[in-house]
Formats: sequence, structure tokens, C-alpha cells
Amino acid sequence: MSTVFLNGEFLPKEEAKISPDDRGFLLADGLYEVTPFYHGSPFGLDRHLERLEKGLAWMRIDYPVDGLEAMHRRLIAENGLADAPTSLVYLQITRGAAPRTHYFPKDPVQPTVYAYAKTWDRPTDERWTEGFTAATVPDRRWSRVDVKTIGLLPNAMAFQEAIDQGADDAILVRDGVAIEGAHMNVWAVIDGVAVTHPKTNHILPGITRAVVLELAAKHGIAHEERPIQLEELRRASEVFYTGTTGEVKPCVQVDGRPVGDGTVGPVARHLSDLFRAYVEETKGASVGTE
Ligand code: PDD
Repeated sequence: MSTVFLNGEFLPKEEAKISPDDRGFLLADGLYEVTPFYHGSPFGLDRHLERLEKGLAWMRIDYPVDGLEAMHRRLIAENGLADAPTSLVYLQITRGAAPRTHYFPKDPVQPTVYAYAKTWDRPTDERWTEGFTAATVPDRRWSRVDVKTIGLLPNAMAFQEAIDQGADDAILVRDGVAIEGAHMNVWAVIDGVAVTHPKTNHILPGITRAVVLELAAKHGIAHEERPIQLEELRRASEVFYTGTTGEVKPCVQVDGRPVGDGTVGPVARHLSDLFRAYVEETKGASVGTE
């Protein structure tokens, strides 16, 4: 039985009750974070909480993030995940329950804060080495996807569209530019340079993306933050994703065509090795800020 966190209490999941008037349920009026844990230690939790804090401020939800680190740690402990090689905490904060109006509730309401912990699995080395496939899908999301809102219908539709085409994942395309994945950031190696979309309102500024950029800089791997044109994606020697639970995830086929020679390339492999080594090194420590 899993223990979840709801509005200040740790309780069995079966006992967690959320009002049908919750604005998260009615309007997707909320935010979320997914923070990875390795052997029971959070990775980049400070950065995840910082991103959350910015989102809360923008949405004008008044909720202090101070106590959330302790909550994350306790949730991992209470669910017996202290020794799990890979686990995560999902946290969601909505504006709270109030009679349905499009505008914010006139009287102050308590935000609804819900979190759970679970394990996740890395692909086996064989599966990772085989690589994954992607399909390009139109990016139909709104213009503030840099805020990690729970309004993920366009992401879910895009991901399903890619799966329906027989691919493992999606690459969202807007105005001829490969923006990001449905739940990960996307990279392409173009003329030997690892390129990823710059931090704008059109991408979610991934924590994994930021760490990988820092590792590339530190280890002298050529990299650039700029938009990736679709035609560049088509001639890239490598394509890969970065994200929590995906880490560095190689993509060897886009829209049924091989990327480069159709095998996992050296840049993705190098960055993946560096990322995993960094995760081991920083166990439990803060990974700083960008
Ligand atoms: N997804 N882009 C999108 C659209 C995302 O939803 C995510 C994260 C990322 C990568 O961000 P990070 O490196 O901070 O995980 C990029 C989470 C994991 C999810 O929706 O479950």
C-alpha cells in the first residue's frame, strides 16, 4: 500500500480524497513537478523547487515551497524507497477547491497539495543501445509551456499520435522547428555540435537539459542553444532526448528514417555516461543552479 501526501498529511493512498470542485480537476488550474531520486537521494531537488516557485508566482498561487524538501524525503522513506536505485516524487499543487468560475476565487482558498512516490526503471543496456524511435507531430500547445502546468492534453495527444504511428515518442514541431518532446527536451547533433532549443516560452526548461548543458561545457563537448530546423533534424547525425526518468535517451529513427547511420551515436553515449557518473557523484548533494 502506498503512502501519499495530501494537504499536510501523510496517509494511505486509498484515504486521499480531493474535492470534485478542485480547480485542478475542473480547469487544469495547477502546476506539477517530477523529481528523480537515486538510491533514496534527490537529484536536483533545489532546481525543481525553484522552477515550481517561479510557476507558483506566475500563476499567483500563494504556497511556500520551504517545507517541500522534507516532504519529498519523507515520502521516499515512508514508501520504502530509500534503497531503490531509481525512484521519483510527483508533486501537484492546484489553486484549490471553489465553486467553478473562470476567474480566480474571490475568497482566498487553500491550494491543494498532493504528492506520491514511485520507482521508475532505466531501460536495460541492450534496449538503450538499440535506441528509440520518434515521430514528428505538430506542437499544439499554448504559448507558456515554460510553466509546468498540469494542462497536458496537447502533450498526451501528441504522444499518442506518435505511438499510433508506431514510434516510441514524439518530437513536437512548431513553425518548422523541432521544439521538444512530449515529456522531454530534444537535441540534435548537427555538423558535430549538440544543439537544443533555447530557453524560451516554447519549451519546458528541463532540469536534465540544464545539467547536460553544464556537463557538455565542462567536458568540452561542442554545444549550442538555438532552434533546430526540421530540415536540420532530418540530416542530424544524432538525435536524443533529455528528461527526468529518460536521462539521456537516444533516438535512432525519426518518422521511419534512420538518424545518421541508424545507431546510437558517440555524443549521446558520452553525455549519457557523463550524466550517470554525475548522478553517482552528487548523490544527495545539491547540484547548484544555472
Ligand atoms: N516531464 N519537456 C517537457 C514537455 C516535459 O514535460 C519535461 C518533464 C521535460 C524535461 O524536464 P526535466 O528534465 O526537468 O524532467 C521537458 C516530466 C518528467 C513529466 O511530465 O512527467
